[in-house]
Amino acid sequence: MIVHLIAAARPNFMKVAPLLHAMNRTDWIETKLIHTGQHYDHNMSDAILRDLKVPAPDYHLNIGSGSHAEQTGNVMIEYEKICLADRPDWIVVVGDVNSTAACAMVGAKLWIPVIHLEAGLRSDDRKMPEEINRLVTDAIADVLWTPSADADENLLAEGTDKARVSMIGNIMIDSFEMLRAKIEEAGSREKHGLDAGSYAIATLHRPSNVDSMETLEPIVDALLNVSTRLPVVLVAHPRTKKSIDENGLDQLIAAAPNVHILEPLPYIQFMSMVKDSRVVITDSGGLQEETTYLGIPCLTMRENTERPITVSIGTNRLVRADTLAENLNDVLAGNWPKGERPALWDGKTAERAVEDLRIRSGN
Ligand code: UD1
Repeated sequence: MIVHLIAAARPNFMKVAPLLHAMNRTDWIETKLIHTGQHYDHNMSDAILRDLKVPAPDYHLNIGSGSHAEQTGNVMIEYEKICLADRPDWIVVVGDVNSTAACAMVGAKLWIPVIHLEAGLRSDDRKMPEEINRLVTDAIADVLWTPSADADENLLAEGTDKARVSMIGNIMIDSFEMLRAKIEEAGSREKHGLDAGSYAIATLHRPSNVDSMETLEPIVDALLNVSTRLPVVLVAHPRTKKSIDENGLDQLIAAAPNVHILEPLPYIQFMSMVKDSRVVITDSGGLQEETTYLGIPCLTMRENTERPITVSIGTNRLVRADTLAENLNDVLAGNWPKGERPALWDGKTAERAVEDLRIRSGN
């Protein structure tokens, strides 16, 4: 049977790759990879896919950037054509980006069964575009593959039929484990003259943090303050770099001797930097999970998280620009939870996904 796997943006690739590899190991699934082109810069897309050993996509929609309606609408228009020509038996969408909801809608309207991988996460913050994508996708997908028990609880509380839900675990951990040896030998921090366990990694890209000077400036100030305690490596998303430059904050950062500003890194180099860091400061979803898995303190610059398990049993805390310094004190004083790995975050999620699909499809 034919399974379409949809990949669109950077955080999707480490979720699609293990599933693609696991499906390609079976003799009953023919996978087709669809890249919508939501992310297109080399380091936001191709370099990561190469690290994850993902072959060239079968279809590339070349959608690119745009407003939410443009991006979502353009993906629907282009993907519908492929679905009509190809008639896949299943469509797998991952995560919570615009392409996720767009492709789920295409499948649902063509009566092609849709699976949502990473279903059930909720921030309860509808100002977040990803929350809308999660709600839409989970409402119309036929099968909901969840990463953790809290996601199942969210779905059941919304009245979702239990039969649609399978908890399979966190597939991003599969990517880390698949590439662990390469990550361990990559030595990214040495290339930047950093000692193990002695620097902070910072990544920011949420519109609510970076799009306006009002929110970005206090965050940059807080990071400059952190850099008086330990080196800060700011791996800047294109959206963030643009806002830093447009708001004239680039000079301020360039003048700070202990801040290294880097372009987005490919997966292996980035995880190598993260693995050896003392602390991560981020607004990313995936990094909250990766740091919990690795036992690294994570300070998440957000009001809420759709990944509360990283706070309740992991190493994550929600912070603001004005509470970053006090939280950093706690980290550096060793006053921080060691955290535990949530159940089924074990590198075997893709296998469980394939097994669930085998049962559901009667193969
Ligand atoms: C998207 C996702 C977000 C995810 C993030 C990870 C949505 C609504 N948002 O946000 O959930 O956490 O990806 O990175 O789907 N740009 C480039 N090169 C690229 C891609 C983007 O320069 O390869 C720039 C463009 O100026 C673009 C801006 O970044 O306008 C934002 O890109 P976009 O895909 O709209 O959203 P992200 O902020 O990346």
